[in-house]
Amino acid sequence: MASVTLDNLQKTYPNGFKAIHGVDVDIQDGEFLVLVGPSGCGKSTLLRMIAGLETVTEGDLQIGGKRVNDLEPSQRDIAMVFQNYALYPHMTVYNNMAYGLKIMGLSKSEIEERVKNAAGILELTEEQLSRKPRQLSGGQRQRVAMGRAIVRKPSVFLFDEPLSNLDAKLRVQMRIEIKRLQESLGITSVYVTHDQVEAMTLGHRLMVLNEGRVEQLGTPIELYEQPASLFVAGFIGSPAMNMLKVEVSDDGKSVHIAKGIDLALENGGLQSHAGQNAILGVRPEHLDLAPGMDGALPLTVTLVEHLGADTLIHGHFGDDQTDLTVRVSGIETVKAGDILPVSITKDHTHLFDPSTEKRIAL
Ligand SMILES: Nc1ncnc2c1ncn2[C@@H]1O[C@H](COP(=O)(O)OP(=O)(O)OP(=O)(O)O)[C@@H](O)[C@H]1O
Ligand SMILES: [Mg+2]
Repeated sequence: MASVTLDNLQKTYPNGFKAIHGVDVDIQDGEFLVLVGPSGCGKSTLLRMIAGLETVTEGDLQIGGKRVNDLEPSQRDIAMVFQNYALYPHMTVYNNMAYGLKIMGLSKSEIEERVKNAAGILELTEEQLSRKPRQLSGGQRQRVAMGRAIVRKPSVFLFDEPLSNLDAKLRVQMRIEIKRLQESLGITSVYVTHDQVEAMTLGHRLMVLNEGRVEQLGTPIELYEQPASLFVAGFIGSPAMNMLKVEVSDDGKSVHIAKGIDLALENGGLQSHAGQNAILGVRPEHLDLAPGMDGALPLTVTLVEHLGADTLIHGHFGDDQTDLTVRVSGIETVKAGDILPVSITKDHTHLFDPSTEKRIAL
């Protein structure tokens, strides 16, 4: 078990491209930290730096209080699980899991005990241990890759999109298994994904990366309830938050959304932005169908998606046909072309400055 500390960590690749611009984080012993962000934002680069597979250009990296910048991957007491599992095709499942332990020079009986123990945790049968990886399903192979990491009893687990090759149902199942496993083993984990549902459900904390910089670091609930920027607001939550261009009134006490539709602001309003433009963010699940048109947004429905438990209603409103998605629970029998009254409650709205793209605190 160990903490992991990144202090102003930076990476410039040999071709001159700066992929990581100074990342700071203290990952607690036993914590599950998820690195999340769009393709190319630097998630794998950062993870591979922790693993020792990429050099650190600048800054300090500590594992268990010890500076490891210059240590080989094998000396860092970490185990990594990759997207493609990287299993040895010619070895049995048993030997795939035992291989690293043989290299470490453990005795045959110790190796056997560790592999059997991991197989038990992961529900891999004796018979499956004797097969080659190609004779297993994707989910089983994924478990072998996990097993290979577990048997090493590392201080830190590093995961790089370990579930992205699995189908939707198996992903959900393995996600739950990984969560359970991490909780019961209590091993500090850093997990890369661009799937925000995985990020929200797995992480104790999430680090949102954008072009090699930390946009926000916080618990899933903090990021959902208090996104620090438009980028985080748009990234966390599915379907994405609606973003509406609004004007703050001259007295700063309300925002003007569309003709005849104004929303009063809390806590005395927004004096700092009085009379200026702002962006109002509201999640689809925080919009409601209103009983009447009075004070409501008239939504022209363009598409309805029935998810079973919920209905997603997509449409637009106003002269400039602003897009809006509304999520209502249950099955709502509306259709394209309908005009629905939609109400916004101020409890769950977010305001952003259009020039800095940062959250405006009320
Ligand atoms: N060896 C390299 N040399 C130069 N640039 C690189 C190298 N490896 C990665 N990059 C660049 O660094 C940036 C970050 O890459 P990285 O693989 O960390 O992204 P990622 O967030 O893991 O993306 P994805 O979600 O697609 O896996 C990208 O712009 C990528 O093109
Ligand atoms: Mg990657």
